Amino acid sequence: MTQQARAWLTGARSVCVLTGAGISAESGVPTFRGAGGLWREYRAEDLATPAAFRRDPKLVWEWYDWRRGLVRAARPNAGHEALAEFERRRPEGFTLVTQNVDGLHERAGSLRVHRLHGSLWIVRCTGCGNESWDERVPLPGLPPRCDACGGMLRPGVVWFGEVLPEDALDAAVAAASVCEVMVVAGTSAVVYPAAALVPLAKRAGARVIEVNVEETPASGLADVSLRGASGTVLPLILL
Ligand code: APR
Repeated sequence: MTQQARAWLTGARSVCVLTGAGISAESGVPTFRGAGGLWREYRAEDLATPAAFRRDPKLVWEWYDWRRGLVRAARPNAGHEALAEFERRRPEGFTLVTQNVDGLHERAGSLRVHRLHGSLWIVRCTGCGNESWDERVPLPGLPPRCDACGGMLRPGVVWFGEVLPEDALDAAVAAASVCEVMVVAGTSAVVYPAAALVPLAKRAGARVIEVNVEETPASGLADVSLRGASGTVLPLILL
């Protein structure tokens, strides 16, 4: 099955890869669902919604500050690195779409990453809307304040119930619609609209390769489901 997946990838003129939290699991960054997932310990409604932020911005920021610290201490793994190398070898006809906010794809060397859910490192002012990149860990005061207007900053991530960044979503939909092969790696494929990219690609005629340690709703659509850790499987099929 690995050989088949590899052959499809080698022969494809256009490849789209969708990643999720599982690809960073081997870097020590906790996933949201599945074993050790954050949503088993915390309630998403308390931490990752606009309502939660309105209710208790300090609590929400403490959680993001903690995750920023975890990610800062983590390093990209062989899965991220394989994707970065794949892009270097064939910059045309390759689109990387991620639901991750950790920035590990970029740190591994991926140059064009379409981030559907924003970034842990972006902060956005709830007052003037100013956005900036802030890698300080820990942040000096919680909730942090805008240098320009003094308004409260919020994490530059997409919370439940929020709209995805249009440019990233457009690029993802365009790539999913034309790719000959889609690789779906390390995502539970339950969060929309990201999860809808898989049936979209499938309907458009793509071969779908899933890489995951367990079965997901995307498994039924996959032409090949590779059960294993992305850090092991991705180098085997991409390089
Ligand atoms: N290799 C491959 N897959 C793995 C690995 C691994 N080493 N470890 C875990 N997985 C799989 C799990 O089996 C699970 O299917 O990764 C998936 C992680 O799923 P989620 O935690 O739901 O992550 P994701 O799909 O990215 O979540 C989507 O939900 O809460 C939100 O905004 C958050 O972007 C996130 C979105």
